[in-house]
Order: sequence, then C-alpha cells, then structure tokens
Amino acid sequence: MKKLILCTLVLASLHVQIKAQSDNIPHLEKRDNRFALIVDGKPFLLLGGQINNSSSWPATLPAAWSAAEAMHANTVEAPVYWEQIEPTKGAFDFGNVDLLVNQAREHHLRLVLLWFGTWKNGQDHYVPEWIKSDPKTYPRQENAYGKLLDVMSPSSSANMEADKHAFAALMRHVKSIDGANHTVIMVQVENESGSIGSIRDFSPAAQKSFEADAPADFARSLHLRPGNWVTAFGPDADESFAAYSTAHYINEVAAAGKAEYPLPMYCNVWFAYPVHALENRDRPSAGQEYPSGGPQQANIAIWKAAAPSIDILAPDFYSDDFTLFRNIVATYGRADNPLFFPESHFDATFGRYFFYALGHGAIGFSPFGIDRPAQPAQPADRTPAQVAGFGGLGASSGAAVRPVNPAENYALFNAPEAQIAQLNLEGKLYTAVEEKGAARQSIHLPTADAVVSFGFPQPDGTYPPGTPTSQGRVIVAQLGPLEFLVTGFDASVSFTLPIAELQKQPNQQIEILQAEEGQYVDGVWQATRILNGDQTDRGLNFRNANPPLVRIRLHKLPLYDEAVHRGAE
Ligand code: DGJ
Repeated sequence: MKKLILCTLVLASLHVQIKAQSDNIPHLEKRDNRFALIVDGKPFLLLGGQINNSSSWPATLPAAWSAAEAMHANTVEAPVYWEQIEPTKGAFDFGNVDLLVNQAREHHLRLVLLWFGTWKNGQDHYVPEWIKSDPKTYPRQENAYGKLLDVMSPSSSANMEADKHAFAALMRHVKSIDGANHTVIMVQVENESGSIGSIRDFSPAAQKSFEADAPADFARSLHLRPGNWVTAFGPDADESFAAYSTAHYINEVAAAGKAEYPLPMYCNVWFAYPVHALENRDRPSAGQEYPSGGPQQANIAIWKAAAPSIDILAPDFYSDDFTLFRNIVATYGRADNPLFFPESHFDATFGRYFFYALGHGAIGFSPFGIDRPAQPAQPADRTPAQVAGFGGLGASSGAAVRPVNPAENYALFNAPEAQIAQLNLEGKLYTAVEEKGAARQSIHLPTADAVVSFGFPQPDGTYPPGTPTSQGRVIVAQLGPLEFLVTGFDASVSFTLPIAELQKQPNQQIEILQAEEGQYVDGVWQATRILNGDQTDRGLNFRNANPPLVRIRLHKLPLYDEAVHRGAE
C-alpha cells in the first residue's frame, strides 16, 4: 500500500513538473480577443528584425547581430534552409542552427526561425537538390497546359512526408538545444506559400482531387454546399482548391513539428495588393501577382479551417499606402488571429506602421533586411531651411527637419518592453499616427482625450504644421484612471476631458498633478526628473530622436465650486 501511495505521489509530482515545463514554453495567450506572446511566463513584445535571405551563415551572421543591436531589436528572424540542413536525404546538419542559437544568446537576442522548406515566395527554391532533381518522386505543380513549375505539388504525399520529416527533425533538434532556454520563441512554417505560375496545380493527382468532393469535415466547417470544388466555391474554385491544398499540407508539416516541440507557429503572407491598372479590373490575378493559395485576404477562412496548427496568419507589408496598411490590420487582426507583421520595408516608414499596429494589438513587428543599411526618410516636399523659417517659435527653437532613423523606434520600447506587452494584452495601449492633412488628432481614452499635434514649431493659436514626411507618431498607455504613460516622435500631447463627458457634466476641468520623465528598470518605474513649465504648459513635447518616456498624472476639479468660492471670501 505504502509503495502504491509513494508511486502515486512520484507520478503526480512528475506530472506537475512536466506541466510546469510545458507551461513555460513560449506560447500565445488570449484575453478578451487580445493576444500576447508569453515568453518565460511574461508577455513579450517582439521587436524584431529579419535578416536577408542568405544571411544565416557563419560569414554573414556577425553583421546580422550588429544590425539587430544597432536597431535595438530584441528578436532576430533568421531563415533555416532545407537544402542546407538535409543535403542528403535523411542526413541532417544542424550546424547553422546551432550557430544561430548560440550567437543569438551571446548577443542577448531571441530568435524566430523561418522554415524555408517547400515554399519560399511561392516557389520551391530551397528544397534540397535530391528533391529538385527528382520530379518523378517529388512531383511539381503543373500549370493548365502541363508545364512543370518551380513549385512543389501540394497534392503529393511524398512531398509532404519529406517536408514533415525534415521539419520534425528541426523542431526535435531545437527542443534538444533550447527547450530549457527559450532563445527560439516562435517558428515561421514555410515562407509566403502559394504558387507563382498557376492559379492551382493541374498535375494528374491534383486534378483528381479537384474533381472529387471537397473533404466533408472541411466543407461542413465552412458551411459549404456539399459537392466538388466548383459546386462549393463556384468561380473561386481554382484558388480555393489551391488554398485548401496548401493549408492542409502546411498544417501537416506544422503539426509534425509541434509534436516534437510545440512553439507558436505562423505563416507569413504575400497578400493580394490591390491593382489600379485598369478600370473594372479590381482584383489582382492569383498565381501571377501573388502566390495562389496562400493565406491571402480572401483565403483566411479556408486557412483557419484547414490549418488549425498554424497559430497566426501574418501579413508581410511592403507598401507606402497607409490606407492599405489600415485595411490589412483590420483584415488580419481578428479574434481568431493575433496581429503580427513579420516583414516590412526597413526604411523611415516602418515607424508609423509599427506604432499603428501596436495601437491595434500587434504582438510584434519586424522589418526585413536589417543587415544592410536602413534608409532614412527624405523630406518629401520641404527643405530644412523652408521648415526652419516657418515663423512663430520656429527659427529660434531649432525647427529643422528631423531625419528619421528606422532604428529609433525600438529604442523607446526596449526597457518597458514587458510593461508595453502587458498593457497591450490588457487593451490599454493607444496610438496616433500622423497622416497627410491630419496633423492634429485625438485619441479617445476611456477617461480623457489625448490631443496629439504633429510637427514643430507649434506657435500658439495655430494649427500644427505636421512633418514633411508624415512621420509623427505617439503612444499613450492608460496606467490608472487618470494616469498615462506617453511617448512618441515629432509630436506634442496634451489631455482634455472628452466633449461627451463635458456635455453631460460641464462643471469640471482637468489639470496635471505631476509629469515625470523616467524609465523602467527591471520593471520598476524610476523617475529622472519632474517636467513642468515649458515642458508641459503646451503639452508634453516629443521632438528628438531619443524622446523621453513620460508618466503623467492628472486630476479633475470643478470649474466653479460654490463652497470653495465662499471659503475664499
Ligand atoms: C518577402 C519574402 O518573404 C522575403 O523572404 C524576401 O524575399 C522579401 N520578400 C524581399 O523583399
């Protein structure tokens, strides 16, 4: 009996240990439709930088780490090449992976590994030679005229099993070297999947599946009309079939990897950019202008149904069209999909996108190609002299065009990264991003409005000038009922009571109790000085490349108080 009790206790404690260990793996947490990436038990704001495609090599990694450090990133996204880890079928070489992990640790950086497997930008260029040179065993996609494409067929189980085998081996290895350290915090499965060159696979095996009924459970979950792909999807049958086949294949790969080591896994998206070429031609063409069957906007529902092992569908954003960015944020930031941007231009535009995404719950952001010099902003339409001569406080207060360095963004969030991620999870982060013609904006917080004015100088009584490249951006976090953390670039921020509240109760006003400049050290706020006078009278000012973090406390008092008035007489 004693033995039995002992045995039960040992088993129970083993279970607790295993659970504690598995709870500790980086994972996604959802709270009220918002998400956080939890690393070592705490929300983690992924301040990423993706290195160039051919940079995960001993010769090029030193420059990559320096670039990540220079931009104050906390995470590097780095490719793992199938052709390199499995040069011969079944024989694995994880030398570069070990190097990535060890060197990332030396540089105090986390890693997102990018699995360049069956798909890379809608093609198959990273599959090993033994696959490339054997299309009989490892079939390619065929276009409608039978041309063999440089895209693997997603309808081939040989292809899928080969990728699953390699990816599972990779995840097993990552667990063995990193299961206790969590340097690797997330994994991208494939890269911009889908097919370039054809709307779908027309190979004999694919054609047979296309003519058969769509899988019943899949059709049920999407409430499709039972029947074949044409019955179910009508004019979208080809692309929907491509999406299902690709999602199903990648789901199998991800599931095989998660069975070894269940890190959060995502797929990045080469989404469908709008075309403005011809009237009445409002859709780009699948397989030509974007890889057909990837997790593009129109395929999200199919991917969610067919690829439950993929935690995030994550758009790569390469455009300076801010309206499009807003649209993509709204499309991919869903209750069933954390918002994450694994790629963007690494230029002066990335700051405003990063801020906007953060204000919409993004768990992270990562510009692409950080190991080459980043492009600063060029003022679009005004010379520094023109801007400096704007009058008012202008000339004497040094109002020149402030060059934007993409690296400045993450520097702000390095120390308070955990606080920002936690506030994000709690839905307490708000951002304002400058747009042409909108140099003054209000952020409606639950208890007050933050009035943001972009560009300097801001002479009294005038509308703010904005910045030449619309680069202003601000973040406000609600810390308490009337307490806020504020920072940003090229902007001033002041607080007012919301008009609606004043209409209901006009006899009230708001004023600053105290504004502290400071920083978080190991999660604890440390004030360096109290701001007052010129630093607060016209709002908090954020005009430098290294803006301060400001914690401001406000209070309300009546406009007129009969009792106080009498007492003063
Ligand atoms: C998007 C891809 O995902 C990256 O790997 C890289 O090829 C970039 N495009 C290049 O702009």
